[in-house]
Amino acid sequence: ATTLGAAAAQSGRYFGTAVAAGRLGDSQYTTILNREFNSITAENEMKWDATEPSRNTFTFGSADRIANHARGQNKQLRGHTLVWHQQLPDWVKAIRDANTLRSVMNNHINVVAGRYRGQIHSWDVVNEAFADGNSGQLRSSVFRDVLGTGFIEEAFRTARTADPAAKLCYNDYNIEDWNAAKTQGVYNLVRDFKSRGVPIDCVGLQAHFGSGGPPSTFQTTVANLAALGVDVQITELDIAQAPSSGYANSVRACLNVPRCTGITTWGIRDSDSWRSSENPLLFDRSGNKKAAYESVLATL
Ligand code: XIL
Repeated sequence: ATTLGAAAAQSGRYFGTAVAAGRLGDSQYTTILNREFNSITAENEMKWDATEPSRNTFTFGSADRIANHARGQNKQLRGHTLVWHQQLPDWVKAIRDANTLRSVMNNHINVVAGRYRGQIHSWDVVNEAFADGNSGQLRSSVFRDVLGTGFIEEAFRTARTADPAAKLCYNDYNIEDWNAAKTQGVYNLVRDFKSRGVPIDCVGLQAHFGSGGPPSTFQTTVANLAALGVDVQITELDIAQAPSSGYANSVRACLNVPRCTGITTWGIRDSDSWRSSENPLLFDRSGNKKAAYESVLATL
């Protein structure tokens, strides 16, 4: 195969990228997007601050532009993200009453997931709920602090009803190293959900790596999560300085685990990246394929 998407499809996987609605008018950008990738994640446009800036007032202009582009180009669409403590409007953060916050959270999930019902292959239902460091516990957020730790279960149950066809994912960063307490926290959450029948279908490993690439235990993490009976997806891959070996090792870890179903890089060109100064992506600022691109293509 000669493109990332077609190469990934040879093993039944997708190869996606984060897309910014504001760049869809850039023909160099859309040429690469349309040619190389077969899945799209909205980089910011489906987040809470973009979709529900004030209570029960929903704005889908930018999100719809991305969804329409995906449909028009026959690309799969990942949903990102329904419940997250960041890019969350102040009006949500200010809620102190549990019944109010529960109905606000469930309404948000119902309206956003409901709008794209049937169009999203996987939703990041809850993003980044675990704390960094050695606790293995949830981080403080308005959701945990007001609703308690059960907010994650509630969000997944609501999402299942809102879009029964979408795979429902828990997504986080720094859960790629099997020996990290945060990884163990997520593993235990998924195991508990599976044992109690809480609807969860996938775990997203963001995979924002430093120049050393993935930790040596990365494939172990992918395999152990998959063994719980969920798919695993690499959802936001970028690697400082884009070393070919780091990209190849990341891709290989996924290919070696049957239930690792797809890989998404967090942007197209280095100039599109949220970590732009680290040049972490597969295409340079002129849209040329970098060495890491060739390494990924050859590994897929
Ligand atoms: C980032 C976007 O790339 C930036 O444009 C935005 O300013 C901040 O968010 N984890 C996530 C993504 O789940 O949503 C974040 O995206 C990167 C870290």
